[in-house]
Amino acid sequence: MPSLLPLVLLALLSTALAQNTRSASRTSTSTNPTSTAPVPAAATAVNEPADGSIYFGLWVDTSVTSGDSPLNANARLGRNISWFQFSQNIPVDEYNDVTGVGGIINGTKVTETNTDAGIYVTVYPLQGLGGFTQQDMAALGVQLQSYVTAGHAVFLRFAPEMNGNWFPYATQPTMFVATWKTLYTTIKQSCPTCGMVWSPNAAIGYPYGIALDTVALAADQAALDTNGDGQLDLNDDAYSPYYPGDDYVDWNGVSYYYKGNYPNDYNVIQPPGFFEGSMTGVLPEVDEIGQTQTQYTPFYNNYCMANPCMLSESGASWKVNQTGIPSWLTVSPTQEQVEGAWWRDGITNATFLSMYPRLKMIMNFEWEKVESDGNVPTLRDFRLTNATDVLAAFVADFEAVAQRYVWANYVPPPPSGSGGGGGAQIPVPQPQVSVHRATPYRATVPTSLSLFFSSAQGWAELRPYALGLTALVAGVLAGVSLVL
Ligand SMILES: *[C@@H]1O[C@H](CO)[C@@H](O)[C@H](O)[C@H]1NC(C)=O
Ligand SMILES: *[C@@H]1O[C@H](CO)[C@@H](O)[C@H](O)[C@H]1NC(C)=O
Ligand SMILES: *[C@@H]1O[C@H](CO)[C@@H](O)[C@H](O)[C@H]1NC(C)=O
Ligand SMILES: *[C@@H]1O[C@H](CO)[C@@H](O)[C@H](O)[C@H]1NC(C)=O
Ligand SMILES: *[C@@H]1O[C@H](CO)[C@@H](O)[C@H](O)[C@H]1NC(C)=O
Repeated sequence: MPSLLPLVLLALLSTALAQNTRSASRTSTSTNPTSTAPVPAAATAVNEPADGSIYFGLWVDTSVTSGDSPLNANARLGRNISWFQFSQNIPVDEYNDVTGVGGIINGTKVTETNTDAGIYVTVYPLQGLGGFTQQDMAALGVQLQSYVTAGHAVFLRFAPEMNGNWFPYATQPTMFVATWKTLYTTIKQSCPTCGMVWSPNAAIGYPYGIALDTVALAADQAALDTNGDGQLDLNDDAYSPYYPGDDYVDWNGVSYYYKGNYPNDYNVIQPPGFFEGSMTGVLPEVDEIGQTQTQYTPFYNNYCMANPCMLSESGASWKVNQTGIPSWLTVSPTQEQVEGAWWRDGITNATFLSMYPRLKMIMNFEWEKVESDGNVPTLRDFRLTNATDVLAAFVADFEAVAQRYVWANYVPPPPSGSGGGGGAQIPVPQPQVSVHRATPYRATVPTSLSLFFSSAQGWAELRPYALGLTALVAGVLAGVSLVL
């Protein structure tokens, strides 16, 4: 496509400039003697809202069986939500057009809201940290940049809850950190304004039953035993073994839920201050079950200063089919009481929000799903905007703090007949009907153009692909549809 060449060069140049700016600012920051003090940075991170404001996001269940969507969620809440979360795997798996599972995320679910809402992409390496290539990473960067080009801010959360033991990439801090750094560098080549979110599971409950001798590598065992006492317990740091460093992260986040009392099968109202435990690492006391106040690894002081932070996914669970109600619980709470205790303790709690101003996003897990603890499968509803009484109470409470939250801006829909989703004149990639047909990096690439990329180690192999990818981005910029 010779006519695209000037655009390719332009895109290459701007990518190179973006990198240079970024590394220059890093250098000047690190030579500033005051930068080592543990004081909050000014609001300058990628996608960071102004001080005193915070994002509210939803991870809605857009599966075919649920049929929910960002558009519907906005209508229910009566507000335009600023971030919507979706997930996909790396490498991208086959898209099933019957179930709607697999493939890349459906960006049109956001563009059809006719707002500039951000697209938050969680990426699971379900084949393990060694199960994908740098080309897979580069393809992801191109996909994400296409959303930026279409007018949507982007967060990428890779391999969340890596400090737990429920994902195939669990308890491998050494390889996690190395992979993360490569991913960060690779993504920034094509998507310099993508916000990379590092997001372990919240420390409360750590180490979640993981025994040190079940960790495969000696190096990982040593990394996880942060106090060097030969065992893994709540006195070990739940986060630091997995942290790649401030320079390789844009935002920090945690998963944080109120699920009740183990095995989390009956409805109970959370203790006050539980929400704050996400920041302090303190598990509040609950006399009825003999739960004492316990200090786990604090999050806020260590991970919300250099970078802003978020609850990457969170919520309180209503047990639709509860069992195991203990005798001390004489009156079961209502769904509105269970969910309301959660949001009043955090999302709509002005005291809490003012105490933790560096917490700049709360993302609710807006799903209903079966989860099982202690072999008791329970249908759990985390949604704040589904049951009518819950929704009405939530909307009413939100009023008091709504000005603190950032809402999405209206974007006019494109002229009819122009294709493309609302607001976006530029097509956004759809889930792939066949991953083999549509994976971006399979484009034919020129191999002779080695212009602006440094020959830093690890890049030699990728460079030809990077050039092809940049050409694709340029193609998208030029309004060329992404059909390969
Ligand atoms: C993507 O979302 C749009 C808007 O909801 C929908 O019309 C389209 O069918 C979806 N695409 C796929 C492949 O599911
Ligand atoms: C939300 O965005 C839509 C456009 O999709 C707009 O019509 C509506 O007025 C906005 N709602 C609010 C509360 O801003
Ligand atoms: C608001 O948050 C503070 C700090 O965590 C807590 O002490 C208080 O109980 C919360 N308020 C409500 C209504 O939950
Ligand atoms: C609750 O409902 C879910 C979904 O139907 C089911 O899988 C689970 O076994 C049920 N649990 C109990 C305790 O009845
Ligand atoms: C609540 O969710 C159920 C599916 O779980 C759905 O059928 C229903 O329409 C939803 N209600 C609202 C008000 O969104």
